[in-house]
Amino acid sequence: MNILVTGGAGFIGSHTIIELYKAGHTVVVVDNLSNSSKESLRRVAELAGVEKIPFYPVDIRDREGLNKVMESHTFDACIHFAGLKAVGESVEKPWEYYENNINGTLVLLDVMRKHNCKNIIFSSSATVYGDPAVIPITEECPKGHCTNPYGQTKSMLEEILMDIQKADPEWNVVLLRYFNPIGAHPSGRIGEDPQGIPNNLMPYITQVAVGKRAELGVFGNDYDTPDGTGVRDFIHVVDLATGHVKALQAIQRQCGISIYNLGTGHGYSVLDLVKAFQSATGITIPYSIKARRPGDIATCYSNPAKAERELGWKAQNGINEMCRDAWNWQRQNPEGYKA
Ligand code: NAD
Ligand code: UFG
Repeated sequence: MNILVTGGAGFIGSHTIIELYKAGHTVVVVDNLSNSSKESLRRVAELAGVEKIPFYPVDIRDREGLNKVMESHTFDACIHFAGLKAVGESVEKPWEYYENNINGTLVLLDVMRKHNCKNIIFSSSATVYGDPAVIPITEECPKGHCTNPYGQTKSMLEEILMDIQKADPEWNVVLLRYFNPIGAHPSGRIGEDPQGIPNNLMPYITQVAVGKRAELGVFGNDYDTPDGTGVRDFIHVVDLATGHVKALQAIQRQCGISIYNLGTGHGYSVLDLVKAFQSATGITIPYSIKARRPGDIATCYSNPAKAERELGWKAQNGINEMCRDAWNWQRQNPEGYKA
């Protein structure tokens, strides 16, 4: 299939493109580079063994720009990663988040339908479950209250996509609810490249390991969890990437609307991850306990059985590989793509 990949220069998009090529698909990337650089695509081309990844530096809110891309290519489906994703920033800048993520997606969908491409895989998030009613979380778990505008955009976009599919059954929509992607391509050539102080746990740990930050702050040790720290379902980004390739099967069988959790089904606490990182790398991570971070929940992990049953997809990498590959990327690229 020929796939339009929005946000393809970013963390998850770049890893997904490699898996798409491996499976025999081709891609065209649209990204405004607001949170990424072209260097990632140069390295993706290297890893995929192609000369160049077709790329347009277009913002998905730019109707004319997108229209030109869609006039120049025929697409079987779109994998839609483009969006702003920093939870804390979304609380400070709600307008920017709603405008970029929601307006951007509405423009994208409109241009897609004008070009009769009505197949989309959307990057959703476990955040739509709020503080989950059931653990492990199945897709039937009711959606919950999102405590921040970023999460709201994901939840609202899921509703928008479902309404559009209901009104026009020619659409096939796959909502992929990611748990916590970490790790990097095993080559160490591509990985997560956060700007400024990392918001997320793993990039913070790797920056402590490489000497850029003095110590990790652990946000709360009084949660109702085995060691008091937050529990998450960390998933290797390459496994997440292969989940998108498998999700194309749902599009091919004209699924209408399908929702899948992409997680491993295992919950690890913040301190479990610190320990796993230390044993995978031999590096000690100094940490101190800080106050809880507003909006955080105690426990979030998936039941990923539906994706295995219906798509034949199952995460292959364990916590050790996630830590090894995250470190391999950080060690080789202490300044991310800037170096
Ligand atoms: P990322 O920031 O690395 O990638 C997103 C890409 O979208 C970036 O390259 C950015 O430049 C681009 N972009 C943003 N707004 C755009 C616009 N208006 N037009 C064109 N390009 C635009 O993030 P990621 O971690 O790769 O996440 C990909 C998707 O998965 C996002 O939608 C994110 O919300 C979602 N998601 C991520 C996580 C996570 O923990 N990383 C978890 C759940 C869901
Ligand atoms: N944490 C720390 N110290 C840090 C960073 C995080 O202790 O410096 C803790 C958090 O309190 C939490 C756990 O580590 O208990 C994981 O935090 P992350 O910020 O790495 O991830 P979240 O689970 O908060 O959120 C992530 C993404 C969201 C996404 C969600 C579910 O940032 O966008 O996973 O997929 F919605």
